[in-house]
Amino acid sequence: MVLTPWALCLILLSCLSYSEAYDSLDPNGNITIKWDFMSWTPDGYVAVVTMYNYQQCRHIQPPGWQLSWTWAKKEVIWSMEGALVTEQGDCSEFKGNVPHSCKRDPTVVDLLPGTPYNMQIANCCKAGAISTINQDPANAASSFQLSVGRARNTKKTVKVPKNFNLKAPGPGYTCGPAKLVESTKFVNGRRTTEALMTWSLTCTYSQFLAQKVPSCCVSLSSFYNDTVVDCPTCSCGCQNSNTKHRNCVK
Ligand SMILES: *[C@@H]1O[C@H](CO)[C@@H](O)[C@H](O)[C@H]1NC(C)=O
Ligand SMILES: *[C@@H]1O[C@H](CO)[C@@H](O)[C@H](O)[C@H]1NC(C)=O
Repeated sequence: MVLTPWALCLILLSCLSYSEAYDSLDPNGNITIKWDFMSWTPDGYVAVVTMYNYQQCRHIQPPGWQLSWTWAKKEVIWSMEGALVTEQGDCSEFKGNVPHSCKRDPTVVDLLPGTPYNMQIANCCKAGAISTINQDPANAASSFQLSVGRARNTKKTVKVPKNFNLKAPGPGYTCGPAKLVESTKFVNGRRTTEALMTWSLTCTYSQFLAQKVPSCCVSLSSFYNDTVVDCPTCSCGCQNSNTKHRNCVK
């Protein structure tokens, strides 16, 4: 008997319990965000930020991801390719060359398919959609490039942003702090290059954060064999969902 990944995911998703603080059926699932330094500039650096969807089943679908963070100091974003910051913020002190964003806590969203080539980079411009690595590895990453100014521009002095927050598109993900990790290697045919430095953080999904009042869930057993995946024998929270003691529904 062969279960396609799709069939298996459909079954697993339907069996999630709302009370879990993490996804018990995909305990190692996460979204890993790599912040790869590509070059240093006179007042900062250029980095490529890539999100990898290492979850078994949870696609991110349009309107897609929204990534935000808080700058450590007074950093600005001179320019961005493959994505945009939703609000420019107060750039009034800049004369002539105005940054793409001066917000202390920028929120970044993906560009849409069909974006002009000069604004694209690899893995961008899919309206924020990211497939899971297990179902569609070729579309399991999303990237954008940013040029950061008013930042320290050496490996030792550059400051890591804080309070990373991922919405995909609603709540549900909790992100840890960004940490220095081994530099990412980029394989391009016979040549491998390396980021100057890489920060990495992971975000994990919790059904409970996504929905405080559980919605009804339906248990399905496998189309092929009803013992392949254990499903609960009833669904909870369907009746009187605003009262404390919820009944099970067969
Ligand atoms: C995130 O998922 C990847 C791929 O499954 C795994 O290698 C990594 O250890 C996970 N990270 C954390 C912090 O769980
Ligand atoms: C269903 O799966 C179980 C466990 O894999 C197996 O023991 C059983 O024979 C299967 N039943 C049928 C009807 O294929």
